Amino acid sequence: MNNMIQKILKKKNKSKIVCLTSYSKNIAKEADKYADIILVGDSLGSVLYNYNTTRKVTLSNMIEHSKSVRLGVKKSLMVVDMPYNTYGSKNLALKNAKKIIKETKCDAVKLEGGKNILEQVKFLIKNKIPVMGHLGLLPQTTKGKFKSKGKTIKEKKQLIKDSILLQDSGVFSIVLECVKASTAKEITEKLKIPTVGIGSSANCDGQVLVTDDLIGLNDTKIRFVKKFINIKKYLNVGLKKFATEVKTKRFPLKKHSY
Ligand code: KIV
Repeated sequence: MNNMIQKILKKKNKSKIVCLTSYSKNIAKEADKYADIILVGDSLGSVLYNYNTTRKVTLSNMIEHSKSVRLGVKKSLMVVDMPYNTYGSKNLALKNAKKIIKETKCDAVKLEGGKNILEQVKFLIKNKIPVMGHLGLLPQTTKGKFKSKGKTIKEKKQLIKDSILLQDSGVFSIVLECVKASTAKEITEKLKIPTVGIGSSANCDGQVLVTDDLIGLNDTKIRFVKKFINIKKYLNVGLKKFATEVKTKRFPLKKHSY
């Protein structure tokens, strides 16, 4: 097993796992200093392309962004989301996962779903492709309004069942998205592999947020997002200064010219 994955597994019940998304080299390079896992999420569809659904994200979108991210990631485990419609059968999943790994040199792929994608997950793992699971709110297959999961007994039982099935299939970790705190706690306590939460409380073994959200570059009002810095403020200072100096002919100076 990949050394980095072993390190992630060993964090269970010891120290929290930090996971950050990245869609390009420069952010990846900075995020890599603090993260255990860098995820090239298909959230790039909404964050960068204004898509109203991640279903529109293509395999080539994911591959091109991931190639850029790879240039910035040196120490973290790099995971790439398999986009919608790219893992409908085990053979399709393997073909596309191999393409992602070959072209991007990432360490693992992430797939959304539980029982419905077990055959694909098992087949990838059998073929030595590390897989991260994703349960709870599943943006690729949710129609209509996004709602939190695991609130009813039925949903909770299903989530627990799916998480165990994924674990037994060999995934090294599971993202829990928008799962009720008590359900996330139960899942996390039942599993030997770590859970990484997003909107699923501090009960998970780690946390992930979309980097553009947490630095305030992407405007979002989702309850689980905390804006740790308003990077737009700093960006505007620099951009405004540039514009002013160009207009007032204070830039470029002789030293900036050939
Ligand atoms: O697409 C993504 O960025 C994700 C995270 C939000 C977990 O799947």
